[in-house]
Amino acid sequence: MKYHLTSRIFHWLMAILIIAMIGFGIYITDFIRDDSQHRDFAYEMHKSFGVLVIILVFLRLINRIIHRPPALPITMKKYEQYLAHLGHLGLYFLMFVTPIAGYLMSNAYGFEVKLFGITLPTLISTNFDLAKQFKELHEISAFAMLGLVIIHVIAVIKHRYFDQKENDILNRML
Ligand code: HEM
Ligand code: HEM
Repeated sequence: MKYHLTSRIFHWLMAILIIAMIGFGIYITDFIRDDSQHRDFAYEMHKSFGVLVIILVFLRLINRIIHRPPALPITMKKYEQYLAHLGHLGLYFLMFVTPIAGYLMSNAYGFEVKLFGITLPTLISTNFDLAKQFKELHEISAFAMLGLVIIHVIAVIKHRYFDQKENDILNRML
């Protein structure tokens, strides 16, 4: 049994987007000179693609309710099944928390958020103390997500190359 086609499309589209966004975030904070025009454009793109992640993750959740994932192979150990579910739950949680914290950080610093030029509602008023907390949350959750993605990929490799054939779950997502 494979994941439904729409689930597979969501997974790979968002995997690429999220990995790129983490790199993009590090780039804008650590590698751009402060006053350049390029900086404004890069921030705007990071924010637009980040909002796209918010939209996609909500749609993905609805898609997941409609198309339930196939059950894990029964040959997989119980604790492995449990850890897989826990890991996926963590990834979903962080896919919501990271971009929403980014959005609220921007608003709290007094910046509006645009989706490729379209101005989106300002949800909270300027508050620098709060902004710093959302900034911290945005950074921590993005790096936690990176850590979890690395573990996620190691788990996929383990089940494909160092496990019995029935436990190769990569096929379900291809
Ligand atoms: C899944 C989506 C996202 C990921 C993975 C992500 C990741 C990151 C990362 C890794 C950083 C660098 C953090 C640091 O080293 O301080 C960053 C910075 C930033 N992100 Fe995001 N981000 C996402 C979505 C968003 C969204 C939706 C917004 C706003 C609408 C946003 C606004 C910002 C801003 C303004 C910074 C720079 C903060 C500063 O100047 O210190 N991000 N992001
Ligand atoms: C290139 C890297 C990646 C590979 C090789 C990969 C591979 C996989 C595979 C094979 C599954 C299916 C597991 C199963 O059969 O139950 C899966 C599920 C999942 N992956 Fe990834 N993945 C990658 C990146 C990501 C990223 C970046 C995220 C999000 C941050 C992510 C989030 C998830 C989630 C949430 C599920 C569970 C789907 C569900 O049950 O609804 N993956 N991944």
